[in-house]
Amino acid sequence: MKVIDLRSDTVTVPDREMRAAMAGAAVGDDVYGEDPTVRQLEEKAADLVGKEAALFVPSGTMGNQVALLAHTERGDEVILDEEAHIYYYEAGSPAMLAGVQLKPVAGLLSERGPEVLRRAFRPPDIHFPPTRLVCLENTFNRGGGTVMPPEVMREIFALARERGLAVHLDGARIFNAAVALGCDVREFTRYCDSVMFCLSKGLGAPVGSLLAGSREFIARARRYRKALGGGMRQAGVLAAAGLVALKNIPRLAEDHANARLLAEALAGMPGMSVDLRTVQTNIVVARLTGGWPAPAFAERLAQEGVRCHAIGPNAVRFVTHRDVSRADIEAAIAIIGKVLAGAA
Ligand SMILES: Cc1ncc(COP(=O)(O)O)c(C=O)c1O
Repeated sequence: MKVIDLRSDTVTVPDREMRAAMAGAAVGDDVYGEDPTVRQLEEKAADLVGKEAALFVPSGTMGNQVALLAHTERGDEVILDEEAHIYYYEAGSPAMLAGVQLKPVAGLLSERGPEVLRRAFRPPDIHFPPTRLVCLENTFNRGGGTVMPPEVMREIFALARERGLAVHLDGARIFNAAVALGCDVREFTRYCDSVMFCLSKGLGAPVGSLLAGSREFIARARRYRKALGGGMRQAGVLAAAGLVALKNIPRLAEDHANARLLAEALAGMPGMSVDLRTVQTNIVVARLTGGWPAPAFAERLAQEGVRCHAIGPNAVRFVTHRDVSRADIEAAIAIIGKVLAGAA
């Protein structure tokens, strides 16, 4: 049975071109700053997002955590959305590593974000932790892959600046946002001090993310990466895959079209509801309305060859990516319909 894996865009496997580039990569010891392929990737990444410098890290989580370490001191406060990946899915590492106090707020990653941020600010007071950083996420994973438009980011960035706060962007899927709006990624990244983006999601690399920011910030981040054990030696074999992955940016549009196709079909099925307004990129969040618990539904679907993630008691998430074709999506729609109808 063919398995259509829609759990995440992280399940993509490197293609032939990527594997060939990895095999042929020029390498050196990157901890000594001597890996030419890593350097090339870091320079290219910095240029793409309009920052002075970039740092290659093994994962998005490490990129975000190194950013928190480099922006803050122990005991500082970081404002972020209560559904943000950094708060929700990074194993409590902001407390464990940077020793910061997170202030999760509802709605920061919505169009009400600027108002939510205004209300989250507290005046300087000896009783309060000093607020140092605001974290944004674009696209917003638990929001269903929604795009925060550049105008909203601009307003949040200006508010943060007025207060002397830095802004870090968890841009794991920032290129999905740029492709969805048909604009240059810098339209988003100009409104943050640092940005992390992933190569190993829709872009298809097996490993790797980049953290970009000012030269001075990246020098600090480099030291924290080393402290966390993320100093990799002949990492050019991985960076080579990353360079090929960056060529996949324009094709993210196909994933978005596939997500739309899936979402519209699911929205019309009895027992399921989809808020089509949130389907803006490659993620579809669907709610089971007939009382079927999401984990049991996901398991049943997997038995029929379609994999998804239960992300709440009655919510499942489907993510499209380069290893699922339009025909796969059509097949998945038919299977999901049958399972929901109890006919599979
Ligand atoms: C928004 C967001 N940020 C960060 C990450 C972390 O990336 P990684 O899995 O490479 O640690 C993810 C992973 O899914 C994500 O969706």
